[in-house]
Amino acid sequence: MASGSGRCPLPCFLKAIFVFTVAMACLEGVYGGITSVFVRSEWPSVDIPIENEVFAVPKGHNAPQQVHITQGDYDGRAMIVSWVTPDEPGSSTVRFEKSAKNYGLSAEGNVTNYTFYKYKSGYIHHCLLEGLEHGTKYYYKIGNGESAREFWFTTPPRIDPDASYKFGIIGDLGQTYNSLSTLEHYMMSGASAVLFVGDLSYADRYQYNDVGVRWDTWGRFVERSTAFQPWIWSAGNHEIEYMPHMGEVIPFKSFLHRYATPYLASESSSPLWYAIRHASAHIIVLSSYSPFVKYTPQWVWLREELKRVDREKTPWLIVLMHVPIYNSNEAHFMEGESMRAVFEEWFVRSRVDVVFAGHVHAYERSYRISNIQYNVSSGNCYPIPDKSAPVYITVGDGGNQEGLAGRFMDPQPEYSAFREASYGHSTLEIMNRTHALYHWNRNDDGKKVATDAFLLHNQYWASNQRRRKLKKNHSLREIVSQIATY
Ligand SMILES: *[C@@H]1O[C@H](CO)[C@@H](O)[C@H](O)[C@H]1NC(C)=O
Ligand SMILES: *[C@@H]1O[C@H](CO)[C@@H](O)[C@H](O)[C@H]1NC(C)=O
Ligand SMILES: *[C@@H]1O[C@H](CO)[C@@H](O)[C@H](O)[C@H]1NC(C)=O
Ligand SMILES: *[C@@H]1O[C@H](CO)[C@@H](O)[C@H](O)[C@H]1NC(C)=O
Ligand SMILES: *[C@@H]1O[C@H](CO)[C@@H](O)[C@H](O)[C@H]1NC(C)=O
Ligand SMILES: [Fe+2]
Repeated sequence: MASGSGRCPLPCFLKAIFVFTVAMACLEGVYGGITSVFVRSEWPSVDIPIENEVFAVPKGHNAPQQVHITQGDYDGRAMIVSWVTPDEPGSSTVRFEKSAKNYGLSAEGNVTNYTFYKYKSGYIHHCLLEGLEHGTKYYYKIGNGESAREFWFTTPPRIDPDASYKFGIIGDLGQTYNSLSTLEHYMMSGASAVLFVGDLSYADRYQYNDVGVRWDTWGRFVERSTAFQPWIWSAGNHEIEYMPHMGEVIPFKSFLHRYATPYLASESSSPLWYAIRHASAHIIVLSSYSPFVKYTPQWVWLREELKRVDREKTPWLIVLMHVPIYNSNEAHFMEGESMRAVFEEWFVRSRVDVVFAGHVHAYERSYRISNIQYNVSSGNCYPIPDKSAPVYITVGDGGNQEGLAGRFMDPQPEYSAFREASYGHSTLEIMNRTHALYHWNRNDDGKKVATDAFLLHNQYWASNQRRRKLKKNHSLREIVSQIATY
């Protein structure tokens, strides 16, 4: 895939980070953070017409289309390859080979189809490639004869606390010209996998047969990236598709048929919530639109999954969800409050590094804050600075047809560090067990502009180091008592 063009070399980047960090440090203690005054000129928020070449159907009878891959196991030695054949079931076989196009290996997948109103889906194939080697390029081939198509991917490095790895984070993508800009900019980032925070196609904005049709166009639209690198899926409200007037009442029907996830590998009972380990990161995917209160399957699963997290092996603990827990946009304000009440304490106790969400069509980043001392009678209802808390980042700005959420609460709340209503994507570049570089990149009329950036210190390793350093200081007792209260 496209790599690295226009990237700032590391020393220059670190300098930029330094300047930024100093700027941020000066801001600490000041009410609220930065509300960017940047106003972008956006393309109209309309979906790209179906005839456009970005949705082109591959040539050949029954040629595989909408190809996408995702991690297929807990530790990154398997990949699920999915695709659609439009005319007949055809073969569910994937032929593949390490570093060569001889395709000596093969795996057999399964095929499914569904209806949505009167739309009949194509034949949706999912095939699990297992026993792959870490950090290795594989070529793969699907389809038959003239219509066969070839792609490749690279497996993640083995689970290692110092494995460096670059993730992209995209949310609420849709299929407009703004979506295309986000996707193209993401593909120039040099990242190796996408953490997708929900709301894929926005096909539910259509009626009747067009819902299914727009899932198909979206699958072809994102194939330029999804066929070559794993996208880690989480579901948003636009995946629910509860449309009783059309006789469609099974939640997530299109999404679940089309997008497989490796949920069994993390002992989840639903494809909508699961976890994977990838390089030096443990990634937990939650479902904002499935039951999560105490005693529900998702709640029980998360409690157990957090016990499986081993920061000695995977120092970085990342949570994905659709609805942000901290959001100061007027759009979707407080919608994450119920999940905050249930899970925030776990995030703080588990020292989650960062929680990524979408849903709000703007960008926002929080300080490390928590509101876990709040209960119905404590009266302590404001978030307070908390070094053990995650950073909450909303990147629901992929560019879908609903447009930007431009109205922020005024004044900016104290928990909000930076916010801007523009389209874009983020990258998280893990360097080792202690340091990761984070960027939010705005799509600025053809250019990619790094707009918000900071150096993220690991919540487990960086603080252990801090503790080690602190031991040299005489005020140890005081510090230890502080840590204990977190
Ligand atoms: C799936 O495909 C088969 C074979 O073409 C067809 O008979 C069946 O009706 C389809 N099922 C659905 C739910 O569309
Ligand atoms: C088809 O294969 C995928 C990928 O291995 C798996 O997640 C899914 O459960 C399978 N579906 C059926 C119906 O076996
Ligand atoms: C509610 O908060 C108050 C004040 O912080 C605390 O004393 C009390 O134990 C809390 N109650 C529960 C059930 O957590
Ligand atoms: C991680 O990388 C940063 C930046 O290059 C460096 O300063 C730090 O010492 C490294 N930490 C470890 C544990 O290697
Ligand atoms: C030790 O901690 C105290 C109080 O926080 C601070 O004033 C002092 O500079 C520290 N000493 C060293 C050597 O870091
Ligand atoms: Fe949403």
